[in-house]
Parts: sequence; structure tokens; C-alpha cells
Amino acid sequence: MSNISYCKPTASHPEAQLDPAFGTTKGNRSSRLQPLVSFLAKLSPLDVNATLLTTFHLLLAVSRLSSGAPFFVPLTPHEIIPSFSELPHRTSSKVLPLQGEGSRRLGPVNFGYYTNSLDLQGPISSYGEDNLLQSSLTAKELVLDVLKKRATEVDVDHCGPGEEDAFYVADMGEVYRQHMRWKMNLGRIKPFYAVKCNPDPEVLRLMAQLGNGFDCASKSEIDLALQTGIDPSRIIYAQPCKTKSYLRFAAEVGVKQMTFDNADELYKIKATFPDAELYLRILTDDSTSLCRLSMKFGASMDMARPLLELAYQLELKVVGVSFHVGSGAEDPSAFLKAVTDARMVFDQAGEVGHELHTLDVGGGFCQDSFEKFAGILGEAVDTYFPPHIRVIAEPGRYYVATAYTLAANVIARRDIPDPTDPSRDAYMLYLNDGVYGNFSNIIFDHQHPIAQVLTCASEPGTPNSATSEKITYSIWGPTCDGIDVISEKIDLPGLLNTGDWLYFEEMGAYTKCSATRFNGFSDNHEVIYISSETGASALLNY
Ligand SMILES: Cc1ncc(COP(=O)(O)O)c(C=O)c1O
Repeated sequence: MSNISYCKPTASHPEAQLDPAFGTTKGNRSSRLQPLVSFLAKLSPLDVNATLLTTFHLLLAVSRLSSGAPFFVPLTPHEIIPSFSELPHRTSSKVLPLQGEGSRRLGPVNFGYYTNSLDLQGPISSYGEDNLLQSSLTAKELVLDVLKKRATEVDVDHCGPGEEDAFYVADMGEVYRQHMRWKMNLGRIKPFYAVKCNPDPEVLRLMAQLGNGFDCASKSEIDLALQTGIDPSRIIYAQPCKTKSYLRFAAEVGVKQMTFDNADELYKIKATFPDAELYLRILTDDSTSLCRLSMKFGASMDMARPLLELAYQLELKVVGVSFHVGSGAEDPSAFLKAVTDARMVFDQAGEVGHELHTLDVGGGFCQDSFEKFAGILGEAVDTYFPPHIRVIAEPGRYYVATAYTLAANVIARRDIPDPTDPSRDAYMLYLNDGVYGNFSNIIFDHQHPIAQVLTCASEPGTPNSATSEKITYSIWGPTCDGIDVISEKIDLPGLLNTGDWLYFEEMGAYTKCSATRFNGFSDNHEVIYISSETGASALLNY
């Protein structure tokens, strides 16, 4: 792509000076160390804690390499995960003030170290994928242990109202692994975590410790981000149509970076916060994403130049371009198109007289397709934007979806007999959480959470036990509304009954944050925090 015209290097960001190349190496030991050196060099100056920690881990890795030991020494689950009974039980003394009554931290619950995650043999777009997978598999066993212990503490026949409420186990080690995965695959792009996705203060605390920024869309999200103690320059107010009083608040607390996509917003910003640093949000093709955003936000390519000209006339400072390919995006080529469009807007802005220094590639990253997307996005960014241009992103779901597991109690069961064939009997199970609660992701985020049996009181070995043949269920929430259905049909082992527990993995994104209190059910559920990574434990003091 030699004929690409870059806009003039202007207000360059210090991070952009770092070498984006994070090459792959094979062969001798010293060349295998090269990516480690690049990796360290790529950490931002803000990543102080994370850098120290990373250095520690990398030194461990280096010492393994120089001692001739294989770089990745897999540990068996037994070696790296103590059973729950071996864990220090500090739960009751660890109530978190920020989270309200319902939360506690369990720790330290550590195993291994994240060098398990580094695979020096892989290409850039799949760095560490396999080993990260192994870490999260063993971490899952740990989560299950904690879920079971907590569930078996509850006696539904005698407990007080609500003591059997649904609860979460949140593994901060999983968030940490996702961060390392990001750094290894998209080291040039600085994450600004999308608070909307899961505003849990504990997640925000870890994000701050990791050196990430925050994407906020309201006053209270800005408040939450600031409460972590970060500088306002680490926040982007990424809502193109802002509430005027919130804009005044942003000015007061010094949150300067913000997006816009229309002329009215420019006049509003001129009147309210003329010193703001603006990002023009452009339209993307989000047709393959789970949650489409472009019908609501984004300036078309036709509108970009007139908006840049208006901003210039109003003496407003446009510093960057942003886009969002849609949440839960499926087509990585949407990123390629958006990056090339952003390049055109950068060039137009230069012609108009603005000095742009940052590209914001938004969110839309998913657990399963991350490496594929990162490969395409990383290459597009490096092709179209020179190193002095700072690149940021607004990942939400990617960081937290897999870190939270939800347990819910079976509060009722209804037998649906098949009069012609009793072996085809089915059952309706009613849980104490549903689509008006933490399963709001079914309605708002088009998700299909999968139930698994956590406890089944039926005797093991009997026809009704959890190890016996599968039985067909439908699973319902606790409210009186017919749409409150979690699963219309699912086969589960054993005959479940009132008091048993089910659990659901991957419940960290767009769940708790969009829960309601409809019908008087709680939207404030206990969260038990654990860490399956020493890195996260050290940052969070677990
Ligand atoms: C402006 C903006 N940034 C980031 C996100 C986070 O997206 P995701 O969770 O898909 O990464 C969203 C989600 O709606 C958004 O609207």
C-alpha cells in the first residue's frame, strides 16, 4: 500500500511513538526473547503496576528459557488449583464497601502464572490462544468449586426471605487473561473499557490497575470511572448525543475527550464545553452484529466534511475519528472498511485545518472470534495509520463476558405428563432469576444462556440422580410475565426439584447492569470475587 497518503504528523501521542511491530519468532533462544522485549516496550507509561507485574512474569519466563526448560510448562489442574477446602476462607471479612451488601472477595485463589499464556511460536494473531484456553479451563473448575460451596450453604427449607437468591462468581483472573490476550494481539491499541457493559466497581478497579482507559456514556459512569482514582484524561465520553447537564459536569471534572456525529451536538458543545477534544463518530456497516448501533449513531461519509468544516468555523478542536462496528460483530471485514473510511476522514480533517492524533476503533470484540478480528484490525491500522497516530478502542463484552458465572435456585417445578408415554414427561422449572433480572441479556443482548446442573439433591446412582439419563425441561423466571422464559427446551441430567441449583456461564456482559426490579424481585445480587491468576490477585490485593 505504498500510495496511501498519511496526514501530516501533528500532535503525536507519546504512546504512538512506540514500535507497533510485535513480530513472531521461531528458532534460537535470543530471537525468541525478542517479542518479550517488544511486549514490554509496548506497555503504556500508565501501566505502571501492570508493567512491574508483567516484568516479573516475563523474568520468570526468561529464566525458564535460559535454564533450558520448556517455556510453557503445563501444570495439572491439581497442581495449580487448590480445592475449595484448602483455600483460605476469608469471605466474611472481605465485604466490599463499594458493592453494597451483597458482595465479597475470596482470596487469594491463585494458580500458576500468566506465562502459561505466552506461546512464542504462534503468529501475532493467535499469540497464546491455546494456553490461554488451558488457563481458563482449569479456572472453570475453580469457579465451579466456589459456586458449589456457596450453594450448599443455603438451606431453602429454613433460610430467610431471599437468602437463596441468585448469585455470581466473578473470576478477575479471567479479565486479566483477556487483557493479556489483548496486549499480545493488539498491543498498539489502548483499551478504554466500555463501562456500560458491566459497571462492577471491582472490574473498574482492575481496569484502572491494568492502565486501561474508560468509555463512559453518562454522568454516573464518569463518576464510577473517576472513583477508581484515574486521571480524567483516561476517560472518553463516547456518547454522540449528550445530556446538556452531563456535558457541564464533564467540563467541571475535566473529561475533555468526547464523540459527536451531528451539527446540533457541535453547537451544544460550543455553548457548553468549547475546550472539548472531539472525535467524529462515523457510520459503519454493522449488519452482521448482534446489537446494531449504526441506525442510531454515526455520521455518513457524505456528512463528514461538512461537520469538520462546521467544527472548524466554531473553533472547536477535532482530535480524532471513532467508529463502532456493532456489539457482537461477526464480520471482521467491517473493521477493515471502517478503518479505511476513518483514513479518508483523517485526510479530509487535515485539509480543513484540524490536527487529528487519535483513531478510536470502538468495541464489538468477542471471545470466540477475537484473534481473527485482531489480525485483520491490527493489520489495517498499521497499514493506514502511521505510528505517531494513537489508536484506542472501547471493548466491553470482550473483557467481562466469560468472567462471570451465575447460579440460580429452582424455586418451583411443574410436572407436564405425557398421557400417552410417561417416559416423555417433561417439567417446567421456575428459577429465582429471569429476563427481568440478570437474564436481561436474553432480551437486550440476544443471548441464549445455557443451563447446567450445579446441585441435584436426588440420590446419586438412582434413576433421579444428576448422573442418570437426561430429562427435558423448560426453564422460567420468577415473574408473572409469560415472556420471562430462560430456555424453552433443554435436556439436563437428573430429576431436578425445588431447592436445586442451576448455573450459567458467560454471564458477565449486559446482564446485571440491565436488570430491573419488576414484580419486586431484587436486582442486587451477591458477587463472590475470586482470582485464578496471580497477576490479577497482586493488582487487586486478593
Ligand atoms: C459507543 C460504544 N462503545 C463501546 C461499546 C461496547 O461494545 P462491546 O461490548 O460490543 O465491545 C458500545 C456498546 O454498545 C458502545 O455503544
